[in-house]
Amino acid sequence: MKVLLVGSGGREHALAWKLSKSKLCKHLYIAPGNPGTAQFGTNVGINDNDIEGLVKYAVEKKIDFVVVGPEDPLTLGLVDKLEEKGIKAFGPHKAAAALEGDKAFSKKMMQACSIPTADCQVFSDFNEAKAYIASRDSGVVVKASGLAKGKGVYVCSEPSDGILAAEKIMVDKIFGDAGDQILVEEKLIGQETSILAFVDGHTIYVMETSQDHKAIGEGDTGPNTGGMGAYSPAPVCTDKILSQIQREVLVPIVDGMNRNGSPYKGVLYAGIMITAGGPKVLEFNARFGDPETQPILMRLKSDLLEIMLAVVEERLDKITIEWDPRPAVCVVVSSGGYPGDYEKGKKITGIENAEALEDVKVFHAGTRFSADGELQTSGGRVLGVTACGKDIAAARERAYEAAAKIKFDGAYYRRDIGDKALK
Ligand code: AMP
Ligand code: GLY
Repeated sequence: MKVLLVGSGGREHALAWKLSKSKLCKHLYIAPGNPGTAQFGTNVGINDNDIEGLVKYAVEKKIDFVVVGPEDPLTLGLVDKLEEKGIKAFGPHKAAAALEGDKAFSKKMMQACSIPTADCQVFSDFNEAKAYIASRDSGVVVKASGLAKGKGVYVCSEPSDGILAAEKIMVDKIFGDAGDQILVEEKLIGQETSILAFVDGHTIYVMETSQDHKAIGEGDTGPNTGGMGAYSPAPVCTDKILSQIQREVLVPIVDGMNRNGSPYKGVLYAGIMITAGGPKVLEFNARFGDPETQPILMRLKSDLLEIMLAVVEERLDKITIEWDPRPAVCVVVSSGGYPGDYEKGKKITGIENAEALEDVKVFHAGTRFSADGELQTSGGRVLGVTACGKDIAAARERAYEAAAKIKFDGAYYRRDIGDKALK
């Protein structure tokens, strides 16, 4: 099969690596890809939100199967448009991707399906939002309803900070139309875990658990980022909690989406807070997580393309999926200054030395080749150094040994990835 993978992050490098290993994959194309994905196929210069360009390319190239990595093309209806042309694609349709793209809709679905989640009010008017937040006597979480590149959530310990957040989103419109509506939620306390499942509309297959580290600073301090590292499995999510999440979250939402006339197919990612009152949903994502995908796919032994085909063809119940029991840890190496301003174009060295270590893969995210072929930084999160080991401590040690071999001006990484799992 000719496969087209859409996206350009660390997640897509990991997906490209696994897809290229499939016995079904004759050639892999990646749009737009990165220097890491180029090791496994042909990078194509089409942006991941250029829906028309992607569909045209897939038709012309006679692509058999498209895998969509990021949320933007999913919410813009790429899968629907490809199917109209008779091309199979992995990922939810536009109406189902709204579980991520429209947080107000997502919350309504959770409430309609009695799924445990934070209490919430939705506002389209700033003054009403302001009055409501001012009436609260505890912390609040203020969220833009639409997509905001993972930056649209403000966790506020004081109502006054919540009002400032609502003003930035609704009045200053820092996320554009994505802030036409906001959600004001109760602030949940607990440990987070990411539960990713393959869903074919009916059957739900829960992957190995994981946890990411959103804050830039050690000890989860400082502003949130796209994710500074992740590990799998997440010991905080015990078998008992996992089966509770399946029963109380995954089954009801998949049923609810069917009743709503928008069946869910693809990867469903439930961001969960494990609170004293049990697991509660923070958000749904309509795709693989980044960086959770890197350690999860390090552990996947089965053919990823076969699994994805089974999802699209609604026969997930007919296949078996195997995992490496050994844990994996991913340490993200970022540009100095990220998630604030940072410089690009720094020369990167040491990746070969890092990958020379056993069970280590270095996934590219914000990298590029300069005109004369030098590997350089080109984004905030630059590389995801990922390692397996006999336990989390061993995987973590190997990942840090590898990360220390990578050099570029201003390189930064947290030194405490995985610590929570060891406690
Ligand atoms: P979201 O994109 O909705 O998952 O939010 C991003 C991050 O904000 C989550 O991973 C949590 O760390 C935090 N967050 C979101 N909603 C809440 C909430 N209701 N209570 C506490 N933290 C939250
Ligand atoms: N790691 C968080 C996300 O992918 O949204």
